[in-house]
Amino acid sequence: MRVSTYFQAAPLIAACALADANLPPVPEDTTTPVQQRLAVYGPNSISIGWNTYAQQSNPCVDYGTSIDSLSQRSCATTSSTTYPTSRTYENVVILSNLTSATTYYYKIDSSNSSTDHFLSPRTPGDSTPFTLNAVIDLGVYGEDGYTISGDITKKDTIPTVQPALNHTTIGRLATNVDEYELIIHPGDFAYADDWFLNLDNLLVGEEAYQAILENFYDQLAPISGRKHYMASPGNHEAACGEIPYLTGLCPDGQKNFTDFMHRFGKSMPGVFDSASTNLSAQVLANTAKELAQPPFWYSFEYGMAHVVMINTETDFDDAPDSVGGSAGLNGGPFGSKNQQLQFLEADLASVDRDITPWVLVAGHRPWYTSGTACTACQEAFEGIMYKYGVDLGVFGHVHNAQRFQPVYNNQADANGMDDPKAPMYIVAGGAGNIEGLSTIGSTKPDFLEFGNDEVYSYATVRFEDRNNLRVEFVASATGEILDSSVLYKSHGERFVRQ
Ligand SMILES: *[C@@H]1O[C@H](CO)[C@@H](O)[C@H](O)[C@H]1NC(C)=O
Ligand SMILES: *[C@@H]1O[C@H](CO)[C@@H](O)[C@H](O)[C@H]1NC(C)=O
Ligand SMILES: *[C@@H]1O[C@H](CO)[C@@H](O)[C@H](O)[C@H]1NC(C)=O
Ligand SMILES: *[C@@H]1O[C@H](CO)[C@@H](O)[C@H](O)[C@H]1NC(C)=O
Ligand SMILES: *[C@@H]1O[C@H](CO)[C@@H](O)[C@H](O)[C@H]1NC(C)=O
Repeated sequence: MRVSTYFQAAPLIAACALADANLPPVPEDTTTPVQQRLAVYGPNSISIGWNTYAQQSNPCVDYGTSIDSLSQRSCATTSSTTYPTSRTYENVVILSNLTSATTYYYKIDSSNSSTDHFLSPRTPGDSTPFTLNAVIDLGVYGEDGYTISGDITKKDTIPTVQPALNHTTIGRLATNVDEYELIIHPGDFAYADDWFLNLDNLLVGEEAYQAILENFYDQLAPISGRKHYMASPGNHEAACGEIPYLTGLCPDGQKNFTDFMHRFGKSMPGVFDSASTNLSAQVLANTAKELAQPPFWYSFEYGMAHVVMINTETDFDDAPDSVGGSAGLNGGPFGSKNQQLQFLEADLASVDRDITPWVLVAGHRPWYTSGTACTACQEAFEGIMYKYGVDLGVFGHVHNAQRFQPVYNNQADANGMDDPKAPMYIVAGGAGNIEGLSTIGSTKPDFLEFGNDEVYSYATVRFEDRNNLRVEFVASATGEILDSSVLYKSHGERFVRQ
C-alpha cells in the first residue's frame, strides 16, 4: 500500500531525472579505507574490516597503546575479496593478544588513512559495569533513500551528506560515544534492497543497490570504526525486495545475503573457548564452535555477558526467508539441517554463570510484538531459550520500541522483573530507515509494558552487576530516556536447566 501511494506521486519526480544512481565518488587513491567496522573476535582479539575501491594484496593494520607509537602490525592472510556487481573489496585483519579493556590506536595501512582508536574487549568474567546498545532496522540517509521528519507517514527526500552524522540515530550514537562499549545490530542495515522505492532507480537498480550500501556504511563508519559492531542478518539483507515482479531486475550481488556474507563473514567471531573449569561446559562450547556459522549465528562473551546472535531468516523449519519461505526471498540454507538449533542448544548449555551471569539472545524477527509475530521463530527458538534461562531477548523488524514483561509460551512470568525464569523481551526496531516507523496499534499482547512509535530510538542494555540489568530506550533526536527498567536475576545456579 505504501508503495502504490508512492508510485502515484512519483511521475513528477521521475520526469526530472533518469540519472545514474548516486554512487559516492571513488577516491583517487584506491588504498583509501572506507566503511570501517570493528568487531569483538575473541576474548583478547578484535577484527577490523574495511572496504577499498581496488583489491589489496596485503591488507594490514598498525596499532599500539600509544598514539605516537603504533609499534605492532597485523596483516590479513589473504587478499581482499569482492562479489559480482560490487564496486568495492572487503578487507579483514585480526588483532590478537590485546590487553583487556585498554585503549588502542590503529591505522589501516594505506597512503591515505588516519589513526582512530578503540577500547579492547573486556575479558569474559570481568565484572566491571558496561553498556551495550541495540540498534536495529537502521537504514540509509542519502539521495537514494529517504528519511522521515516529524510526520511519521511522510517520506522526505534528503540530500547526500558525507560523512553524515545527521541521521538522528547515528548522530546520537556519536554524541553518546563515551557511554557505551559496543553495539549489537541484529539485522536490517542499509535497506539497499528498497532502491526500487525511488522510481529514478528503476533502470539502474544494480548501481542504486551498491550506492545505498556504500553511502550507508560510509555514514556508519564513524561509529562502527570506533565501537565493536556485532552483526546478524535481517530480511533486508536477503535478496530483492519482497515484491515478486522485481525478481527479473534483481542484481546477482543482491541475492542470497551476498553483501552481508562478504561484508561480515570473516569479521564476526565464532564461539569462544569456554573459560569454565567444568569439563562438560568446555566440551559443549567446542561443539557450539563447530556448529557456529558467523555471521549468521554465533556467540561471543564480553565482561559479564554471553551474547548469542541468531538468524531468524533461514535455517529452521518454516524460516521466512528460506527457499519457498513465506517472505518469498529464497535464501540459504547456511548450515546443515538443524545446525543452527543444535548450535544454540550447545552454546547455551555451555554457559557458566559464575563467569558470565547474563545471557542475551539477539535476532531480527520477534515473536513477542504488537502486530505480526514470527511464530515459526517462536517454535524454533523459544523453548531452548527458556530451558537455559536466557535473561534478555533483543529483537527488531517491527519499526518501533517495545518492552515486554518476562514471558514464556505467551504467559507472563508470575515473578515479573523480580527473578523471573522466563526471558524478558524487547523490540528495538525504531532506529530509522526509509520505511519509517510502524504504529503499535491495538492488537498488542497484554504483557506489553512500554511502547513508543512516535520517535526514532534505540535501546541501551546496562550490565550493572551480576544481578541487575538496566534496559532503556533512548530518543535518537533528543537523547531523552523514553523508558527505563531493571531486571533483577539472582543467578544462583551455575548451569541453568529448567
Ligand atoms: C583520501 O581520503 C578521503 C576520505 O578519507 C577522501 O575524501 C579523499 O578523496 C582521499 N584522497 C585521495 C587522493 O584519494
Ligand atoms: C600471542 O601471544 C602468545 C604468547 O604470549 C604467542 O605465543 C602468540 O604467538 C601470540 N599470537 C599472536 C597472533 O601474536
Ligand atoms: C550534518 O552533520 C554535520 C556534521 O555533524 C553538520 O556540520 C551539519 O550542520 C549537519 N547538517 C544538518 C542539516 O543538520
Ligand atoms: C558441569 O557443566 C554441566 C553443563 O555443561 C552441568 O550440567 C554440570 O552440573 C556441571 N558440573 C558442575 C560440578 O558444576
Ligand atoms: C545461498 O548460499 C549458501 C551458502 O553459500 C548456499 O549453501 C545456498 O545453497 C544458497 N542458496 C541459494 C538459494 O542459492
